[in-house]
Amino acid sequence: MERSLIIFKPDALNRGLVGTILNRFERKGLKLVGMKMIHLDDDLLCDHYSHHKEKPFFERLAKFMKSAPSIVGVVEGNNAISVVRDLVGETKGYDARAGTIRGDFSLSGQCNVIHASDSVVSADIEIVRFFKDHELFDYEKVDLNYVYAEDEI
Ligand code: CMP
Repeated sequence: MERSLIIFKPDALNRGLVGTILNRFERKGLKLVGMKMIHLDDDLLCDHYSHHKEKPFFERLAKFMKSAPSIVGVVEGNNAISVVRDLVGETKGYDARAGTIRGDFSLSGQCNVIHASDSVVSADIEIVRFFKDHELFDYEKVDLNYVYAEDEI
């Protein structure tokens, strides 16, 4: 089973979309293994967006991400990385297809409501960045045998 980091960005909180978006992941069958509210600071942002540091939008993005708390979570499931990316949609809300989270709830390149890990390697790095071991929970989700066939678990 793969795990993906998800971040409900400050626009999702301010627009009251956290529950609605979380529901998209839950109803797909993904298992929530960790979740908490944090206010991102410069150190975390520089780390998390290190690949965007030289981009012209970085300062604006950092200001937006510090404007209110975010909710970070980890979801688990078969092929979770690509499944979550498909649910989330294209980066810019105005490019994202209707039916995806960004396609339904964002009109912006910056305020795109949610972040999701883009590969297994990034997910491993991002999960450790935001969560300590004891903040991730290993439990048996009771619907497992109805979400997956026996040979898929
Ligand atoms: P995400 O893909 O989660 O991580 C990088 C973030 O940078 C992206 O979401 C957007 O929030 C932001 N971003 C990407 N491209 C632009 C852009 N052209 N202008 C402003 N913000 C952007």
